[in-house]
Amino acid sequence: MVYNHHIFVCTNQKDEIGKAVAKALKIEVKKHGLKSLLIGGTKHKNRVQTCNCLDACKQCKKGPGAAVVIYPEGVFYGNVRPKDAADIVREHLAAGRVITRLLID
Ligand code: FES
Repeated sequence: MVYNHHIFVCTNQKDEIGKAVAKALKIEVKKHGLKSLLIGGTKHKNRVQTCNCLDACKQCKKGPGAAVVIYPEGVFYGNVRPKDAADIVREHLAAGRVITRLLID
């Protein structure tokens, strides 16, 4: 099995926004049929996983949203809220376009 994308969401905020972001991302991945793909006979997965800190705390603890990193690109998004999940899945995962408004400087 190969990971097409591996998404890590920080859940180290007091208001637990990261957990809500991770849940929204999982729902969107499933909704778009991207959870598990068969490409050239190989099984690929898009996985959303929570973690404690991504070293992007300014974009996480102080803002209204959570920090997110997507591999293999290594793209960091900041202040991500549950309402951003659909854009991340549709634009980044499905279309391969980075969402500039969420990028961490
Ligand atoms: S606390 Fe979320 S990135 Fe550090």
